[in-house]
Amino acid sequence: VNSALYRYKKTNFLFKDPMRPKDLDALLDLELRPTDVFVVTYPKSGTVWMQQILVQIMDAAHPEQAEDLTNRTRVPWLEEQLIDQPFRDRPDPRIFGSHLPPDMLPCDVQKKRVKVVYVWRNPKDVLVSAYHFAQSWVLLKPPTSFEEFFQQFLDGDVYMGSWFHHVREYFEAREHLDIHFVQYEDMLKDLRGEVEKLCLFLGQSLTEEQMDRVVETSTFNNMKVNPKANYKDLVEKERYSKNTMRKGLFLTGVAGDWKNHFTVAQNERFDQVFKEKMRDVSLSCSWEY
Ligand code: PPS
Repeated sequence: VNSALYRYKKTNFLFKDPMRPKDLDALLDLELRPTDVFVVTYPKSGTVWMQQILVQIMDAAHPEQAEDLTNRTRVPWLEEQLIDQPFRDRPDPRIFGSHLPPDMLPCDVQKKRVKVVYVWRNPKDVLVSAYHFAQSWVLLKPPTSFEEFFQQFLDGDVYMGSWFHHVREYFEAREHLDIHFVQYEDMLKDLRGEVEKLCLFLGQSLTEEQMDRVVETSTFNNMKVNPKANYKDLVEKERYSKNTMRKGLFLTGVAGDWKNHFTVAQNERFDQVFKEKMRDVSLSCSWEY
C-alpha cells in the first residue's frame, strides 16, 4: 500500500486522527435518526457536488432548519470528524458524507432505513481526478508518474482502496439499504432531471422556483466561487500543497478528461480490468467509454 496509507477491512485509510481502526469501528455504533441522509461515494466521484445539491434541497424544503454554514460543516464527514461534534444537536433532516464501504457504515443506516445517495462516476475520470488530487493533497504521497498512479488505481492501492470493490459492494448492498444511485455523467447531462429524481427518493417536494435555485446554485461555475460550497477553508488550512499548479477540488468538472491522459495501451489495460472485475455486476453505465 502507498506509504501514506494503511489497509483496514479491504480499504485504505490515512494515517491520521481520527481515522484509526478504533475510530472507524466506533462509527458502527453511531446513533442515527431515520430522517438522516447519507451521501456516499468513492473519492472524486462528485461528493462535494452532491453535498451542495442535498443541502439546497433540504434547506428549501425545511427553511426553519437552514443555517449559515459551509457545506463542510453542514455535512459532517463521517470518517474524518469526531463523533461528538455539534451535529448531534442539529435539527432534522441531517446530512452526512462518507467514502466508507457499506459494511463500515453505522449499523443504524440499515436498521433505521436511513436514506443513502450513492454517486458514482466513470472510473477513468475518477482516476485522473484522483491523480491530480494525490499531487496536491499534503496527506497523500504524490505519485512519481501517471503510469505509477494508474497501476496503483487498478490494484486498489490508493486512498479508499479499489473503485471496483467499492462500486460492487454498494451494488450488492442495494438489497438491504434504502439507496439511490446517481451517475455523475447523468448530472452533467441533465442536472434538473437528476434533482427531480432525488427529491422523489428523499420524499421532498419543491416548487419549480426552488428546483431552479437548487440547479442554479449547484453548477460547477457557481460552486467554484461559492465559499460555502468550494471547501476554500480547507484549502486555506494548507491541507493542499501550495507548490502544485492544480489544487482544490474544482479542476475540470467534465466527463472524458481521461482521454487527455490515457495512452491507447493504458486504455486497453483499463478496459480489460474493468471487464474482469465487474463482469457479474449488472451496471448500466451512462458514460461514453
Ligand atoms: S472528494 O475529494 O472525494 O470529495 O472529491 P469529489 O467531490 O467526490 O469529486 C471532485 C470532482 O467533482 C467535480 N465537481 C463538479 N463537477 C461538475 N459540476 C459540479 N458542480 C462539480 N462540483 C465538483 C470536481 O471538479 C472534481 O472533478 P475533476 O475531474 O477533478 O474536476
